[in-house]
Amino acid sequence: MQNDFPHTNEEKKEKSSEQLSLTKAKKLDRGNQLERKKFGKQEHEQTLNNFAKKKKSITNWVKEAEKEMQLSPKLFESQLVKISKELSLKARTLNKKTIESIRFEDPKLSQILNATDIWQGRYEGGMKVWECSVDLCTYLISHPIFVEKQLSVSKPLNIAEIGCGHGLPAITLLKLLQQMEGIDKTISVNWNVTFQDLNVDVLKHCSLANLLLNDIQVPGHCDDTLTEGGKPSHKDAKQIHFVSGNWNDASLKDAMLQVLSPSKGDKHKYDIIVTSETIYSLDNFDIFTQLILDLLDQTYGVCLVCAKAYYFGDDLGGGVQEYLSFLLNDDRFNKLVDACVVTRVDDQMSNIREILLLYYRNSQFAELWKKMDIEQED
Ligand SMILES: C[S@@+](CC[C@H](N)C(=O)[O-])C[C@H]1O[C@@H](n2cnc3c(N)ncnc32)[C@H](O)[C@@H]1O
Repeated sequence: MQNDFPHTNEEKKEKSSEQLSLTKAKKLDRGNQLERKKFGKQEHEQTLNNFAKKKKSITNWVKEAEKEMQLSPKLFESQLVKISKELSLKARTLNKKTIESIRFEDPKLSQILNATDIWQGRYEGGMKVWECSVDLCTYLISHPIFVEKQLSVSKPLNIAEIGCGHGLPAITLLKLLQQMEGIDKTISVNWNVTFQDLNVDVLKHCSLANLLLNDIQVPGHCDDTLTEGGKPSHKDAKQIHFVSGNWNDASLKDAMLQVLSPSKGDKHKYDIIVTSETIYSLDNFDIFTQLILDLLDQTYGVCLVCAKAYYFGDDLGGGVQEYLSFLLNDDRFNKLVDACVVTRVDDQMSNIREILLLYYRNSQFAELWKKMDIEQED
């Protein structure tokens, strides 16, 4: 993790290592593109939405997963992902054999998973742990300020992970909250954590499975909190929700807000939104930003976006740098929100990765987030 990335003296060194990373990334992307071509256009056009919106009882999911874990523990093999010295998280391993044994909601998904990482619009890579999600977890653990600031405001803490896949950043925030409650017994936090992904199968077989594998209790009353956003009872103040859908679907925002505000008059929004490897496509910048802005609490909210500085490939082209310039130059967004890069990771093995903070200009914490800009630290 690098907070003090050299901008002047070591520029040459930086450029050459960046160049090396870019070449490697281009090769990887080329591989993915070839894989994608194996599928026909017709299949591409079949959307996920039909099954993705089927209502699913979370309690049933949990019961099913727990039963399967007992009966076929091999199906729930996991890799240990090191986040920090103190924290490692389990992430379910989905190998060829496991994929064949899973009963997917989308019957085509197993074929896709065996052939490619991303199949545009249909499956966008959620079954794999991408490296930026680990960077984001590491950053969150070493910067508890995001959680601490929100806890200083006395209201329930609402967290969402957008395009969550395995959901490790949201799980890290849950671990952080558990740790804070454990250390300071006076802290009793009411929280909502919402996991959002395009694919129901990703939520069920990765995000939920990882919660269980990492010993996080999924509150039982979520029974009626459905993938389309039901009406939770809010008897219990700690809640976990799963919402599936495409960012371009207007009802997704409503579903994600509905789980926070069961009573008609309530207008709760999200205080912390985390998201990783979700800005790789320029085409999605618009809908993605609109969703974040609709979900983020204007007064306190902060969104952390972790991604490669640049992505390459025919259908790609996004990345933190492109996204930052999009945000700051688009008149619909730049009057409302500000953004800055707060860390840069260069392990010389892959693309440079960055974390961007996004917040409303009139947020109470805007000055604090602005100070975290790495440019200011140089
Ligand atoms: C490359 S994966 C990253 C997964 C995970 N965040 C990580 O870093 O390991 C991109 C994620 O964003 C989600 N996603 C991409 N485009 C989406 C869209 N248009 N609507 C909803 N989710 C989308 C995918 O389902 C997938 O889980």
